[in-house]
Amino acid sequence: MRVEVVLTEADIAQEFAEAMEARDLPEKFFFWFPRSAAEWCALSRDADLYGGLGETWRQIAADAASLAVHYRGRVPVISFGAGDGARDRVLMGGLCDAGCQAVYHPVDASQPMLEMACSGADDDDIEAAGIKADISSPVHLVYAADAAEPPRLFIMSGNTMGSFDPLAEIRYVAQCMKPEDRLIVDGELYDQALSMSRRDNTPARKFICALLGNMGIGPEDGEIRFNHKRDERHEGLHLITRHFRADRDLSAIVAGQEISLERGERIGLNFQYTYTEDVFRWLLRDHGGLEILREYRSPDSRFLTALCRK
Ligand SMILES: C[S@@+](CC[C@H](N)C(=O)[O-])C[C@H]1O[C@@H](n2cnc3c(N)ncnc32)[C@H](O)[C@@H]1O
Repeated sequence: MRVEVVLTEADIAQEFAEAMEARDLPEKFFFWFPRSAAEWCALSRDADLYGGLGETWRQIAADAASLAVHYRGRVPVISFGAGDGARDRVLMGGLCDAGCQAVYHPVDASQPMLEMACSGADDDDIEAAGIKADISSPVHLVYAADAAEPPRLFIMSGNTMGSFDPLAEIRYVAQCMKPEDRLIVDGELYDQALSMSRRDNTPARKFICALLGNMGIGPEDGEIRFNHKRDERHEGLHLITRHFRADRDLSAIVAGQEISLERGERIGLNFQYTYTEDVFRWLLRDHGGLEILREYRSPDSRFLTALCRK
């Protein structure tokens, strides 16, 4: 298994300790530990929560022949925030059936996730070389994109863009693209009734608790709360935040360091953006400078996925 390391474990451990000191934990730490990675895999395979997105990827794969004509046999697939790569492999299977040879570059900050993505590709006889990098860094993104020459197929799936500032992230991704490249990116559509319940549920709480548990914080130590906010920069940009509130004085262990939390203190946990359909299109076209070539709406209407070019 080949994994090129741009973001080291020592970097992540240092950033994790600093983030805990600041009481604000971004997305990348939620997938760092093997237990977190296992809980994410269970969550992302939950048919009620992600079955619709799975159907979208099967639909994109069934249509892979129309994508394949754009490539000359060999398709470098560079997936930003690849996770276990399960959705990417569905598409790569379709590309192979269409007569292409996929060469896979999963890009992720999580070593366990990268190992799953690369070994899954190996099992499917797809050449793979992972890149351990921070996709919120424009420099790391450009480095990862340069793993292959254009035309490349970039992927950002599972509402990964929504775990960052999407206005910044889409521009960073677009900066990596050449006119011959294609990008498949999805966004989760805001639903007043469902967006919260799709997050505040048992499998999602187990996923969050896996990170807290790795720091020695258990369910009896406090409470996880969710909030809905609007991002005033643009109508239709919704943000769901979550935080842990300590119910008693406690100590967390972060990368071997003890960090004290007082009763009532809060730790900001990873947030997620959701969008109205119009704002998702605005984000890609007007803000990111991309052209949408095709759209796929998941059968449960939770996700809108777009095939784009620059
Ligand atoms: C929501 S999951 C989506 C995974 C996959 N694309 C899918 O569709 O199931 C987000 C992925 O992005 C990775 N990630 C989060 N923040 C990251 C960062 N700053 N740099 C690199 N990877 C990151 C996580 O490790 C995780 O694998």
